[in-house]
Amino acid sequence: MRCFVTRDLPGKALDRLCAEHEVDVWEERLPPPRAALHQRVAGADGIVSLLTDPIDEALFDACPSVRAVANYAVGVDNVDVTAATARGIQVGNTPGVLTEATADLTLALMLAALRRVLDGDRAVRAGEWRTWEPAFLLGRDLHGARVLVIGMGRIGQAVARRVEAFGAEVVAAGRGDDLAPLLADADVVTIHAPLTDETRGLIDAAALAAMKPTAYLVNAARGPIVDHEALRAALGEGEIAGAALDVTEPEPLPADHPLLTAPNLIVLPHVGSATTTTRERMAEAAVDNLLAGLAGRPLPHEAPP
Ligand code: DGY
Repeated sequence: MRCFVTRDLPGKALDRLCAEHEVDVWEERLPPPRAALHQRVAGADGIVSLLTDPIDEALFDACPSVRAVANYAVGVDNVDVTAATARGIQVGNTPGVLTEATADLTLALMLAALRRVLDGDRAVRAGEWRTWEPAFLLGRDLHGARVLVIGMGRIGQAVARRVEAFGAEVVAAGRGDDLAPLLADADVVTIHAPLTDETRGLIDAAALAAMKPTAYLVNAARGPIVDHEALRAALGEGEIAGAALDVTEPEPLPADHPLLTAPNLIVLPHVGSATTTTRERMAEAAVDNLLAGLAGRPLPHEAPP
């Protein structure tokens, strides 16, 4: 059968796909533009997609024979799963294998923000390290802090375990919880919910205003969960103490984006799962999914509807 893979993947997983099927890989660093994507999927039975590829009705129209899509991510907000299901197309994702790496990076963001790690590095390079000073670069403690985890799925739970090991208190927020009082009590708010109609814009101006002026926001889930204009304003006006983001809206965030003018902000280029082992495991999981789908078997990791 024919497969289109929208980017080369780390490790050897694609070899297993190539051993059984005819595989066309988009070899460029940047994602295929929409027209090229639609052209290359024509005639494909299976697709391995990335979170940068819109997998929607228009794409399905371009490849009527496709029977399975294996998204190389746990998040499937780039895939219209409802449209796929209606057409009998199976959709898979890569849960589990990236949980610990993403939780590690979340802690890196949290600690970097609270302990002003980037400010310290910048100060050294700028020649501002004149002596050991009692009040130089004072940050905040993670131990003893109250950390609100929004979204207690696999990654949220892995973050909670780490945060507790640092001596902080974890408070969980899930669907249906009244967020305002939880935000008002938190020293750190960390987001691990999927992007859905319900979570888009969840952290808006009102949510940020509800937070303490000493509190920090961390987002390692999806950019559109946070209203970036509201975040820029909240940081600028000192409504919250700082923010650390691994995800933004849009991605990539242009270097001249207004958000980057905000103080006390750390932004990383969506690298939560970016360790060699994790990205190779994600490739194995995606290939497992596609092989199963092409063989007409249930996917080992079927994406949530
Ligand atoms: C995912 O898997 O959804 C992450 O955002 C990238 O690993």
